[in-house]
Amino acid sequence: MCPKNRRTLLAMVLTIIIYLTFLIFGSAVYAEDSLAKAARINEGCLRCHGAQGLKTKFDGNTVSLYVDEEKYKVSMHGTMACTYCHTNISDYPHTKALTGKALVDQVNSECRRCHQDVTSLYKTSIHGQLNKKKGQLNAYCSDCHGIHNIYKKEDLKATIYHSNVIKTCGKCHEEIYEKAYMESFHGKSVFLGGKKAASCVSCHGSHTILGPANPASTVYKDNIPETCAKCHLYPLENFKEGKEHFFLEPKGDGAPMFWTLMFFTWLTIIVVTTLIIHMELELYRKLKNAGTTDVNRRKDVNTDKNYPV
Ligand code: HEC
Ligand code: HEC
Ligand code: HEC
Ligand code: HEC
Ligand code: HEC
Ligand code: HEC
Ligand code: HEC
Repeated sequence: MCPKNRRTLLAMVLTIIIYLTFLIFGSAVYAEDSLAKAARINEGCLRCHGAQGLKTKFDGNTVSLYVDEEKYKVSMHGTMACTYCHTNISDYPHTKALTGKALVDQVNSECRRCHQDVTSLYKTSIHGQLNKKKGQLNAYCSDCHGIHNIYKKEDLKATIYHSNVIKTCGKCHEEIYEKAYMESFHGKSVFLGGKKAASCVSCHGSHTILGPANPASTVYKDNIPETCAKCHLYPLENFKEGKEHFFLEPKGDGAPMFWTLMFFTWLTIIVVTTLIIHMELELYRKLKNAGTTDVNRRKDVNTDKNYPV
């Protein structure tokens, strides 16, 4: 190789090294910079919103504007600037501040910017479809995930943690949660800390939830055995014949279970009561006979101490 070519090669290698150095350290400096910038913005916001007493009036109701800094800092978005979600706010006074449903809609629509895949799935779900209609009761991202307290599902503090998510869904599906799920085998197991029994999400999914009438749903009749098969090795075909959520009431789907429960409850009460009465009577007789000659003693038994046994 001639010296000229070698010099060119050396120059090229040096250029690449310098370029890479800038790329690595430059981005580190930039990352640090953006983190520091976010922290500075948040410090400003929290000077007011970090105070527990900060409130505003909306529709005649008093709304708290307090943000718990400690919870926020350890949340998944803790290092992010508040303005990444509150894009309409930059300084104070807030000229474009929103309230009520408008605020909820605006902030939730920002999640899409960074969570594209999840948002696309969510839009196909019953909850996502409901959100198309303005003013309707619905479940948006923050209804399930929380607001400034969003954590990974493995985190005990998360609203979507195995034993917390049942309460999160239960906020809106109160009857199914309280009267059906909590009475079920799965519900009792999860309540007692079971990590393997099914929560609402194990059967319904999270961002693709659809009602049982929809053939694409995990709980559509024909899909039920497959849904249960995630955990139960041999899903029986007749799993789909029964009703998963029933209320323990004298009429309706829960009637056989209700009457079985009633039968065993009363059987237990009657047996225990009779037992207690029996014991009381025996005790009464023993007390009454105490100190008197035992009339029941057999006359033909020899009570002589010297009688060989
Ligand atoms: C000087 C105090 C102060 C600072 C600083 C401040 N806010 Fe506010 N913020 C308020 C008050 C007071 C309200 C009540 C509504 C209003 O007055 O506009 C409010 C309302 C809000 C609302 C709710 C809007 C509503 O009416 O429900 C959001 C969201 C908000 N602020 C976010 C922020 C963010 C993000 C920052 C930082 C970039 C910030 N605020 C900085 C005082 C402040
Ligand atoms: C991951 C997105 C996200 C980030 C980051 C975020 N917020 Fe919010 N914030 C929300 C959502 C969603 C709501 C709407 C809550 C609702 O009422 O359902 C909200 C509501 C609010 C409100 C209105 C009162 C309330 O609690 O409903 C205030 C004030 C507020 N945020 C301040 C802040 C401040 C200050 C920060 C930074 C320390 C911040 N937010 C960071 C998502 C975010
Ligand atoms: C500016 C971008 C951005 C916005 C806006 C944003 N997030 Fe995030 N979110 C992130 C990043 C980055 C992470 C951390 C990812 C990681 O470390 O796995 C995260 C993590 C999460 C997680 C935990 C993910 C996991 O792996 O378990 C959830 C849940 C979440 N975000 C929900 C929301 C919701 C709900 C909103 C809207 C209120 C929102 N995010 C808005 C960037 C964003
Ligand atoms: C009906 C409740 C519910 C709604 C509404 C909801 N999520 Fe989730 N989300 C969950 C649950 C539950 C998980 C945990 C995943 C699991 O166990 O399958 C989760 C997980 C996540 C994750 C972690 C990554 C992953 O794919 O598992 C992100 C990010 C997330 N959600 C963002 C969002 C965003 C953004 C929205 C709004 C467009 C949203 N979620 C709406 C319940 C919900
Ligand atoms: C073991 C699986 C399983 C679990 C756990 C579960 N579901 Fe269901 N869910 C089903 C099935 C299957 C259906 C279809 C109707 C039926 O069989 O009751 C259903 C139906 C529903 C419906 C529609 C009711 C209707 O009749 O239209 C709602 C709402 C619902 N579930 C909410 C929940 C909530 C909330 C939880 C948690 C508290 C939960 N489910 C836990 C399997 C489950
Ligand atoms: C903020 C309220 C809210 C939360 C939280 C919520 N939902 Fe819903 N959900 C609704 C509304 C409203 C509907 C539509 C009306 C209806 O059918 O009850 C619905 C519909 C459903 C349906 C279909 C019902 C049918 O008959 O077609 C299922 C299944 C369901 N939700 C399951 C869940 C599960 C599982 C969770 C928790 C991961 C959850 N929901 C969290 C409000 C909520
Ligand atoms: C996330 C996993 C999971 C899913 C999904 C699930 N189960 Fe279970 N189920 C469990 C666990 C764990 C137990 C407790 C088993 C034990 O300790 O014997 C249980 C117990 C039961 C029991 C009572 C006890 C027994 O072993 O017979 C019935 C009945 C049952 N499941 C039916 C269903 C049906 C029907 C479905 C589908 C609609 C379903 N399960 C979906 C995990 C699951």
